[in-house]
Amino acid sequence: GKGIYPHYMLKEIHEQPGVVRNLLAGLLEKTDGHLKINLPERVSRKLHKARRILIIACGTSFHAGLFGKYLLESIGLVSVSVEVASEFRYRHPVVDPERDLAILITQSGETADTLSCLRLLKELGVPQIVLTNVEGSTAVREADDAMFLLAGPELGVASTKAFLAQIVYMMFFALELGLKKPHPEHSNAHIYSILDEFFRIPALMEETLNLSPSIRDLVKPFTHLPSTLFLGRGRDYPLALEGALKLKEISYIHAEGYPSGELKHGPLALVSDSMPVFALVSGSELLPKILGNLKEVHSRSGIIISIAPASLKGALTDVVNHQILLPPVGDFFLPLLSTIVLQFISYHMADLKGFDVDRPRNLAKSVTVE
Ligand code: F6R
Repeated sequence: GKGIYPHYMLKEIHEQPGVVRNLLAGLLEKTDGHLKINLPERVSRKLHKARRILIIACGTSFHAGLFGKYLLESIGLVSVSVEVASEFRYRHPVVDPERDLAILITQSGETADTLSCLRLLKELGVPQIVLTNVEGSTAVREADDAMFLLAGPELGVASTKAFLAQIVYMMFFALELGLKKPHPEHSNAHIYSILDEFFRIPALMEETLNLSPSIRDLVKPFTHLPSTLFLGRGRDYPLALEGALKLKEISYIHAEGYPSGELKHGPLALVSDSMPVFALVSGSELLPKILGNLKEVHSRSGIIISIAPASLKGALTDVVNHQILLPPVGDFFLPLLSTIVLQFISYHMADLKGFDVDRPRNLAKSVTVE
């Protein structure tokens, strides 16, 4: 049941620190102070052999794949293309069974378009790994290899904890590849320090969950507005897309996710004092660019709500209207905290509007028809 929570979605958001603990127990081994990533032999062999990774998925799972691309390329040094399943299956894709690896991401393991891609890839002889939450699913039965999200049943139609588990997997795949690829910015020592920090993340996620009531108060005045924008750069861009999808599907407020650098190429025209702009900000080398983008929104009377680590508070004071501050955490892990904030934004906006958060209109949990 839902326990103390009014909705499954809220319960599932709160389960996320536990999901990460489960995943760490399976994926990361620490013996005598020595860390080891535990992937099944066949899976790690496939990852290391791949010269190109094709990630295929739908909806939220597609956003997790897009997030994966940033990490797999920057840390794993492998070329990645990410595609929506309904596009991939009909466009006569050019693949190379010797060099390519397909990763199909599907919470349910039953999404019709993703399954069709899986069958197509098998026919073409491309090795596959399915990333799913459901052990007895069709995808698991049909793929060469499957890895499990260990998130427990996800009952809210809007995917939350499965997405978080998917991005954790993307992190592990990238780090596993990174360990075998010498890279000036990601030495093995650096990768091991990231792995070590992983154990601290569930507690920081719990701290982030405490932001729920203040996020509810903050978004209240925006629930009557028709449209919102979610901005992010780099790894935060796929999260912005996911934040926008979540808001659309349960609150029925129009939302778009955009890479901040694209603002001047069109969407800046939309900015006004009646469109809240949720901006993901991280302290990377992109910070000056992000601040520049936000100043452009600010000077056009846009209402900006930033989602950033507490360390950036000062840098953001004159640029944004409201700040949602995250516990201090390394850049690599920030997405695991900012995702929780994005989930709360959509949950509270939808709930304040009185909608049935767990059963949004027109949508089904698992899309088994094309
Ligand atoms: C959004 C959502 C959907 C699913 C999509 C794919 O919250 O849940 O966009 O992510 O239908 O489903 P799976 O991952 O089961 O293939």
